[in-house]
Amino acid sequence: MALLSPDGRELLGRLSGEEAGPDRALQLAQELRGRYPPGLVAAALTQQALRTAARAKFSRAEQMLFTRAGLEQASSEVTSAHAAARYPAGALVADLCCGIGGNLIALGAGRRALAVDLDQVSLAFARHNAGVYGAAGQLAAVRADGRDVALAGVDAVFIDPARRAGGQRLAAGRSEPPLGWCLELAGRVPAVGIKAAPGLPRELVPPGWEAEFVAAGRELKEAVLWSPALATARWRATVLPSGDTLAAGPGPAGAPAAAVPVAAPGAFLLDPSPAVTRAGLVEDLARALGAWKIDPAIAFLSADAEHRTPFARTLRVLESAPWHERRFARRLRDLGIGAADIRRRGLAGDVPQIHRRLGLRGPGRATVILTRVSGRPWGLICADLPGPA
Ligand SMILES: C[S@@+](CC[C@H](N)C(=O)[O-])C[C@H]1O[C@@H](n2cnc3c(N)ncnc32)[C@H](O)[C@@H]1O
Repeated sequence: MALLSPDGRELLGRLSGEEAGPDRALQLAQELRGRYPPGLVAAALTQQALRTAARAKFSRAEQMLFTRAGLEQASSEVTSAHAAARYPAGALVADLCCGIGGNLIALGAGRRALAVDLDQVSLAFARHNAGVYGAAGQLAAVRADGRDVALAGVDAVFIDPARRAGGQRLAAGRSEPPLGWCLELAGRVPAVGIKAAPGLPRELVPPGWEAEFVAAGRELKEAVLWSPALATARWRATVLPSGDTLAAGPGPAGAPAAAVPVAAPGAFLLDPSPAVTRAGLVEDLARALGAWKIDPAIAFLSADAEHRTPFARTLRVLESAPWHERRFARRLRDLGIGAADIRRRGLAGDVPQIHRRLGLRGPGRATVILTRVSGRPWGLICADLPGPA
């Protein structure tokens, strides 16, 4: 908190832009210790290191304040802007576990916000960070247990419950407050968004709620559960930063969707985004692209036309045949493939050992996929598409 004092702010200003490695940090510590209290210098140097690390999440990291745990748990600027867009402009939104304000910076933009956290330092930093993003104009910050906060007059709630406590990660599926309590919020304020772990089991999503699985590029970042008042689908996969989104349900009462065919791979292999897989939308993606599955139980799709889509990585198939290690080794040598990224899906095998036994030689690169095609062990040699994906 001393960092928010005039001395603290001045010191942080001096360190701004420093990417202090250990030697430089030592030099700076020595230079500054005569002029500022040693504890403040240490805190400011730590803060500068956190700001540097935070650039991966926030474009204004250099002006923000972080705790280490707060930064690790914070939503990034891109994911928080996407989530906040569900909330109506002008609404009073309560962020019941605001941390250092990763979500608050977006929720508070163009809305009134009530920021709540158990931790006083996080709360103070959240307020400061909201100010950095011009989102502190209509902000009230309250140090409290989110469970004790009266919600009369609140239009909507966002909650990103803690998945660690006392520096320790909680067991998988556990959070503070627990998911069950968060879901019950919708009985008090209809419009609720709950950030959850991306591995959230789909059966925990109550009827009428939407589960949105969000990836940044190919990396799955989070799941957000939207209460019926904010839901616009049953399952949704969103890929940021473009915001492209694929959604399903609630299905029409009429005929069920057409079955997706299963057949051997064609000219292209599509590896769906983990957001699509987690949302259970692989078959919806196949229907949207006119693609087919290569096995009933495996999340690869194939097509004869080239598709460039944010929802899948598309590879050109150079070779597709039942898996036979020696034959594939020969074919890879014929193709001059010296570097291979080996992916295994639905087939047992020790990848580093297979890699060694393939004895790769040559200037080319490829992705080698070991999988199943209609139940048979299958191998594919694939190349990336040229140019931007
Ligand atoms: C996952 S972090 C929130 C991160 C935040 N959404 C962000 O993007 O920066 C969870 C926060 O919940 C707070 N917390 C845990 N239990 C709480 C409770 N019962 N009431 C209020 N805050 C709580 C923790 O102190 C922590 O700051």
